[in-house]
Amino acid sequence: MSFLDLVVKRKSVRAFLSTPIDRTVLDKCLEAARLAPSACNAQPWHFIICDKTPLRETLAKEAFSGIYSMNAFAKEAPVLIVVTQKTTKAAPKLGGLFQGIDFGLIDIGIACEHFQLAAAEENLGTCMLGWFNSKAVRKILKLPKNLKIVLIIAVGYPSAPMGGPKKRYPLEDIRTYVEK
Ligand SMILES: Cc1cc2nc3c(=O)[nH]c(=O)nc-3n(C[C@H](O)[C@H](O)[C@H](O)COP(=O)(O)O)c2cc1C
Repeated sequence: MSFLDLVVKRKSVRAFLSTPIDRTVLDKCLEAARLAPSACNAQPWHFIICDKTPLRETLAKEAFSGIYSMNAFAKEAPVLIVVTQKTTKAAPKLGGLFQGIDFGLIDIGIACEHFQLAAAEENLGTCMLGWFNSKAVRKILKLPKNLKIVLIIAVGYPSAPMGGPKKRYPLEDIRTYVEK
């Protein structure tokens, strides 16, 4: 499969089979995340893999209830990955502060996409989730207050074939070649 075919194949999946995912397969996808680039090579990510019951079920129930229930589909995912931002070197933070950009979050976004593409290659479906009860997640996983919880990635084998058309702005709208 060409890289672009893989990019097309990866789509957010919101309906999963309950089939468990082998940890060797998860590790393969996490290896792709580990190899992601980051500002000053700070690698400011940590992935907490919740693939065992009852913890995963408790986490899903608490994270995706109430105002977060638009993501209730994630309760069916056999694996939830909580992505946190590690405190790292001062250089990228300082650089980011001057630029007015949080490089750490960019780094984590790249790593998560590496994960998702590797997962798609393994025929796994994923969905990045930015809308969840972060307070509840922190409590359940006993995470320190100062640790930023950035995303949850729901992972599982899709209950329908992945792929299909993507809703995107046309290329002409998102790029400008500068003429001299
Ligand atoms: C940072 C981020 C947060 C997201 N949060 C959610 C979410 O909370 N719930 C959800 O269903 N999808 C979420 N998504 C998935 C997007 O809705 C999805 O990527 C987008 O609609 C494009 O569709 P595609 O992934 O199928 O190509 C999120 C994606 C990103 C990158």
